[in-house]
Amino acid sequence: MTTPPDFNDRMLSLGLARVSEAAAMASARLIGRGDEKAADQAAVDAMRTQLNQLEIQGVVVIGEGERDEAPMLYIGEEVGLGEGPAVDIALDPLEGTTLTAKDMPNALAVIAMAPRGTLLHAPDVYMEKLAIGPGYRRGVVTLDMPAAERVSVLASAKGCSTEDITVCVLERPRHEDMIAELRTTGCAIRLITDGDVAGVIHCAESEKTGIDMYMGSGGAPEGVLAAAALKCMGGQMFGKLLFRNGDEEGRAKKAGITNLSRVYTRDDMVTGDVIFAATGVTDGSILPGIKREPGFLTATTLLMRSKTGSVRRMEYRNPA
Ligand code: FBP
Repeated sequence: MTTPPDFNDRMLSLGLARVSEAAAMASARLIGRGDEKAADQAAVDAMRTQLNQLEIQGVVVIGEGERDEAPMLYIGEEVGLGEGPAVDIALDPLEGTTLTAKDMPNALAVIAMAPRGTLLHAPDVYMEKLAIGPGYRRGVVTLDMPAAERVSVLASAKGCSTEDITVCVLERPRHEDMIAELRTTGCAIRLITDGDVAGVIHCAESEKTGIDMYMGSGGAPEGVLAAAALKCMGGQMFGKLLFRNGDEEGRAKKAGITNLSRVYTRDDMVTGDVIFAATGVTDGSILPGIKREPGFLTATTLLMRSKTGSVRRMEYRNPA
């Protein structure tokens, strides 16, 4: 038996960018058409086709759902040419299906790749998330702290007033109490309607985006993707799985999780080197969306490697 080749992240990264570009470009014609499902399906199909051209032995660990509920890119699906390094794949072909259908900002096609066994197999449940950008003492904010305390300690660490801190939160009824508590500090809150992978990434470029901290619950799969992005860009992230019923706990156990109340750090969710690619679908504060001109489509991709901390923004123009 031959040993599979090493995870050559440098060589694999451009291939990964092609995968997210293809997904974003495929969903572009469905931006603003009010059809979430069609936009998602177009992205899934294109992502799968491109992924299967890569020289990898890939397994989807964060995907579109369980095998019986997702026709493609389901958890456990083998992808790639079946030659090359053994890798885990985390993906969300269209992160922000509603954002795309309504032509609202920050919809992305997202994918991360890492050596086999190094990405958390997060079940499709909610995760309590907390993220900040680079440059802070480890553990300066924690999931145990009340929301208001997180703002005040972050403000002290940044050397500013709590009023100069901006927190990004998904606008959901379940976050009303947390938002009310945050308001007592005088901080600003950027409410987003969807897309918490982008929400977390904003923290890593706070000078550009104006966002210092992300908090609140969202999808656990999106949590692993966000952790992969922060591992490349720098920054801290914490996540705790949330279960609403026994069925959700069962999903976690099926995914191999034994400690259901564990708090995962960024590096617990992504334990080795990782490559991350995100292509803008709609315009956003991290990336421009797909641009259409007669005969051409242009996509912009954020391509990053944790080994080197390299962050590229690449523009790709292609005849449509
Ligand atoms: P989709 O792209 O699958 O629609 O997910 C968007 C999203 O906003 C995620 O970014 C987030 O983690 C999750 O949905 C939040 O879930 P909910 O809408 O149930 O609060």
